[in-house]
Amino acid sequence: MITPVLLCGGSGTRLWPLSRKSYPKQFAEILGEDSLFQASARRFTGAGFADPLVITGDAFRFIVSEQLDDVGVTPSGILIEPEGRNTAPAAIAAALCAARRDPEALILLVPSDHAVADPDAFRAAVQAGAVAAREGRIVTFGIAPSRPETGYGWLEAGALTHEGVHELTRFIEKPDAARAAELFADARNLWNAGVFLASAETLIAAFREHAPEVFQTVSAALEAGREDLNFTRIDPDLWARVPEDSIDYAVMEKASNVSVVRFDDHWSDLGSWESVWQESPRDAAGNAISEHATAFDCENSLLRSEAGEVELVGIGLKNVVAVAMRDAVMVADMSESQNVKAAVQALKARG
Ligand code: GDD
Ligand code: MG
Repeated sequence: MITPVLLCGGSGTRLWPLSRKSYPKQFAEILGEDSLFQASARRFTGAGFADPLVITGDAFRFIVSEQLDDVGVTPSGILIEPEGRNTAPAAIAAALCAARRDPEALILLVPSDHAVADPDAFRAAVQAGAVAAREGRIVTFGIAPSRPETGYGWLEAGALTHEGVHELTRFIEKPDAARAAELFADARNLWNAGVFLASAETLIAAFREHAPEVFQTVSAALEAGREDLNFTRIDPDLWARVPEDSIDYAVMEKASNVSVVRFDDHWSDLGSWESVWQESPRDAAGNAISEHATAFDCENSLLRSEAGEVELVGIGLKNVVAVAMRDAVMVADMSESQNVKAAVQALKARG
């Protein structure tokens, strides 16, 4: 059995103003009727998968419970972080929790901001990787790249070691543009899907070796935590000492026991408005238009009104994203949509 660990404590600022501090993107209905979090929870259910463990921020604990209930998924536990410290602390906290039950248990770290067209195909890729994970490997999932993306990690696939599983020869997290262009030109390189499969003890050993400070501070904070119904609350005072880092930088770039399974089906990280536009149904002129939004003579634009009764009208727009909420409207050139994050930070600093 594989235990999915649903990571859903991120803030998703690049999808502002839909994604808010109090209601980040993973809980919003961005594509279809499930939230991204619900779609991730459903993706890894059924034969071979145990009930998931969820790790999230204190402010989201009730949203998580309600949304899982809605899709009929029962969590085996919900771990509450006093505040987000990025994915490295979340991952090791979940691994330590899973190891209390069974150190050899395989855990699957699942981000909650992805669109996957064929969940059966992804489950099959995970099962292919399980053979290597049982032998002490950390298994990553590699997507055939379609552009020199700087917002993802890159995986260099080496020799085949098991059916469908390659040795990973290099892990490069979020390269700069020049490096991404080099990586894109070499067919061995794949995008990192951000999903990781390993036994709890393998992950613990990797953190002990490569990120000892994260490991020790998280262990202490979890040890001092307390159980509260189905929630495990991590100790806030000790958590304040945990360094902030992502699992990619803290562990994956450094570890040598890493494997990669290629996933050739459709996958996307809904990290920006441009990727939401690409994944949404579009009209003949390439526009993705929500209810209460109307486009006249527009091309390749995304117009979304989320406020219900606020009408959004675009005239003669090309490559524009416009999102209207009741209390905020954001309009950007599509190619600048990665910069929403910087704009939100500047707004926050202004107070
Ligand atoms: N519980 C918890 N706590 N979850 C978190 C935290 C945290 O502090 N920070 C982020 N998450 C969750 C997010 O909600 C998201 O679902 C997931 O962890 C991944 O975090 P992102 O912040 O979205 O990572 P990324 O997209 O920049 O990069 C990762 O994913 C890419 C593919 O989507 C990396 O693994 C890249 O290498 C990879 O290419
Ligand atoms: Mg992401």
